[in-house]
Amino acid sequence: MGARIVGSGICLPETIVTNHDLAEIMDTSDEWIRSRSGVEARRIASPGVGSAELGAAAVLDAIDDAGLAPGDVDVLISATMTPDHYAPGNAPLIQDRAGLGTIAAHEIRQQCGGFLYGLDLADALIASGRAETVVIVGAEVHRGYMPYGDSMDILLGQRTGPPTEADRARATEGRAWSVLFGDGAAAMVLQPGPEHSGILGTTLHTDGSLFELIHVPGPGFINYPWSSVDQIEQGLHQPSMNGGELFRNAVRLMPAAVRTVLEDAALSVDDLDLVFAHQANQRILDGVAKQLGIDPAKVPSNIAQYGNTTAATLPLLWHDCKNENRVPEGTLCAFTAFGAGAHWGAALYRA
Ligand code: ACO
Repeated sequence: MGARIVGSGICLPETIVTNHDLAEIMDTSDEWIRSRSGVEARRIASPGVGSAELGAAAVLDAIDDAGLAPGDVDVLISATMTPDHYAPGNAPLIQDRAGLGTIAAHEIRQQCGGFLYGLDLADALIASGRAETVVIVGAEVHRGYMPYGDSMDILLGQRTGPPTEADRARATEGRAWSVLFGDGAAAMVLQPGPEHSGILGTTLHTDGSLFELIHVPGPGFINYPWSSVDQIEQGLHQPSMNGGELFRNAVRLMPAAVRTVLEDAALSVDDLDLVFAHQANQRILDGVAKQLGIDPAKVPSNIAQYGNTTAATLPLLWHDCKNENRVPEGTLCAFTAFGAGAHWGAALYRA
């Protein structure tokens, strides 16, 4: 008996930042960002709004969509790369804000693979009978990483430009990664499904030898003290990314994982209706379709509107597609992700 998605919900910050807005504060262009990544706009959370606030709102939206109440949830799984506080992470904050009571609240840290790891855990809990109703939430506020200095206020509409030369130079230095990310949260509610529906199988992988492909080198307990002004001055609190290698691995490993879950279920690529792939780059999504030999229309995308929302991309995409009536009962889908860790994998799902 596989876990079945019975509700989904989202919470997006109101501020929309377009590529044109970014071109006001750094040396970039809408044409570069759009053609290299497919991103046209992203949301940025307002000052004081963290991923726990967005995550809790998405959880409540999903519970409502499922026709349930907060008290019906047995387990919460929170996935984030950008918790409000390094410790204790987001799970307890989201649990409290959403009024879920003192249920178990897992905190998982698989970055872009976080929601997929959450799906596997939810499925295991439900299939083993240890939980009836599990909520998974992916929530991110990447704002704190952004190398924009005071230009952040220009993006948030709190003052007009132009930026200082120093802020412009710093933003331009970080443009290869910063333009890709956006803030947002999305959640799913899972319950036991009828035979031959819900999650049919999963495969998860981690290759720690690839951890430097994208990582945040600065604050951490290998240092004494674990965080310092020096690290910030050197930009070590921001992601360090090898875009090309990430790209090559993502295009190779996501399709391989999708093939594995299909083979395990004695199904083939031809049986697939949709592939929900982590939204990191439109060219990666096109590469996934090509590697699988499927119509790109079967690999939906909302990266143009939201950018890469890390742990939130898969549930955000599911929610959008569900609302567009693209996942009627019986639809065979794969969820797949690749990201920092490196963590990757796939889940096969029958709606
Ligand atoms: N605007 C204008 N020019 C830029 C920008 C920008 N925003 N960013 C980089 N450039 C310049 C570079 O400086 C470089 O200039 P040069 O040739 O004069 O040195 C040129 O554009 C080409 O840069 P590349 O890095 O080679 O561009 P590429 O085509 O490889 O695209 C990209 C870069 C978009 C980052 C791509 O490699 C990618 O998307 N990789 C995957 C990233 C990814 O998946 N990240 C998420 C990780 S998952 C997680 O867990 C968080």
